[in-house]
Amino acid sequence: MRESKYIEEIPLNHRKDYGQFFTPPLVARLMATWVMKDDPKTILDPAFGLGVFYDEVKNLNPNNQIMFTGYEIDPHILDYLDHNIIDPGLRIINSDYLEVETGRFDSIICNPPYMRFQKFLKRHDILPRIEEKIGKKLVGYSNISSVFLVKSLKELKTGGNLAYIMPFEFFNAGYGKEIKKCLLENHLLKQIIIFSNEKEIFPDATTTVCVLLCKNDGKDEAIKITAIKENEEIDKISDASNFYQKEIFSSDLPYNKKWTPIILSLFSEEKFPNDFCKFSLYGTFTRGIATGANDFFALTKSKIEKWKLDENNICKCITKSYQIRKAVFTEYDFDKLYSTDKPVYCLDVKDHKKQEIQQYINEGEKRGYHERYLTKTRNTWYKIESRKPAPILFGVFNRGRLKVIRNFTTAINFTCFHSFYPNIFGQQLVNKLFVYLLSDIGQRIIKTNKRSYGDELDKFEPGDLNESLCPNQKQFEEIDNEDAEKVIELAKIDEEKAIKISNDLINEIIDTSEIVLPDRYPIAILSGS
Ligand SMILES: C[S@@+](CC[C@H](N)C(=O)[O-])C[C@H]1O[C@@H](n2cnc3c(N)ncnc32)[C@H](O)[C@@H]1O
Repeated sequence: MRESKYIEEIPLNHRKDYGQFFTPPLVARLMATWVMKDDPKTILDPAFGLGVFYDEVKNLNPNNQIMFTGYEIDPHILDYLDHNIIDPGLRIINSDYLEVETGRFDSIICNPPYMRFQKFLKRHDILPRIEEKIGKKLVGYSNISSVFLVKSLKELKTGGNLAYIMPFEFFNAGYGKEIKKCLLENHLLKQIIIFSNEKEIFPDATTTVCVLLCKNDGKDEAIKITAIKENEEIDKISDASNFYQKEIFSSDLPYNKKWTPIILSLFSEEKFPNDFCKFSLYGTFTRGIATGANDFFALTKSKIEKWKLDENNICKCITKSYQIRKAVFTEYDFDKLYSTDKPVYCLDVKDHKKQEIQQYINEGEKRGYHERYLTKTRNTWYKIESRKPAPILFGVFNRGRLKVIRNFTTAINFTCFHSFYPNIFGQQLVNKLFVYLLSDIGQRIIKTNKRSYGDELDKFEPGDLNESLCPNQKQFEEIDNEDAEKVIELAKIDEEKAIKISNDLINEIIDTSEIVLPDRYPIAILSGS
């Protein structure tokens, strides 16, 4: 297959820069079947790559006179196309799809690049033009795939069919709202396909994805939800629109709500105890400090000594996730990191007149740190936000078990962790909240609010954590303070045992029979929040 030859020969960095992840032919066929309904005369693929969709369209209907137009930004990938193809019906245009006026098409089929829009250099030129064309402000569009989809929906003729692969996170992320609104208000969205065994079906993908099938017919119909378990199953589906397990009306899919839990509830009887409350009742999870130039702000012992930075202008700080490996973080652990020259301090300028500090700032300016995206927007580029140490830290990215830390140090933290700041209700309960977060049931409940980046890598935004559920105050009162402290002492030496005891403590205060959590199926939904 030319895809495997391409992957073998082209460095991963190049592929990542262009968002080159290929659609497996079986999925491409499923999507092609959808766009071939109603005998289209013109088909658009805005992100052609090695042309898997063109192949499948041709396989399905070798004799049909179709004009297939593909856009591809990377001239290099086009060298890998089969040069023996002589098809007057195929037009491949080596241009940036987002920049061109394509006209309108009977059908559109696409697996767009999914990189962050911030990485897209020309976004400042392109965004206003697309906004003007669709008559909408695209605020916070952080993923380029969503800009592709919005543009394509405008280019779909009345009655036309569109099949798009999208990263699952768009269902829940803020930038997905406007597209979801557009899909629903115009009755475009007909079917959502999710994959429960994604690693088998999309071995190449780095993020959890789904397929959206749309039709521009203005008909207000129920939206079909299909969960596909394995390749073998796809092979048997001749027409995806006849293969679905659930249906949902657009009125039950509000555009401003996260869709993952809604879709999830269709498949599992997910249930939480009625008397649970939100984490935000006890305080707030906040993103760690974004410096805009960690290399400059994070300081090791040797750097502090070399530049003679005094205590008044630095402060203890966790700058990287790997620095905390255990569930409890103490001053002893901190000192060990510091003495082994790990960057566990950060610049916290209070007295910028001091000569040594001036020298360090000057050096930073010489290296251009003051002109970074974040630093140049600050009043004083080298003054980071003032923060207090947080008693509980939560890993932003987690694989497997969630990284929950009871922090006993005076270290603040960078964005590798979210910081939990308790309010007056939470202050008394910090240890117990930690016990809950450490317990298996707590972890599973919190996980229902995660966003997945595929390969079991889960990401949490602070808002996801603030919204998650946990026991109420009365339930927490049933746990003895000493028992919670014991869990913490144990976690310092034996985390597994600490988890077991937290399980016992939490199981005693909640009625687990009232909790039904999604088990294995469909995994794409479970991990694709
Ligand atoms: C996710 S891949 C999909 C490739 C192929 N259609 C498939 O499904 O296997 C996205 C493709 O779009 C191309 N691409 C990225 N940005 C683009 C842009 N702005 N305009 C056109 N093509 C672009 C990439 O080079 C890559 O080949």
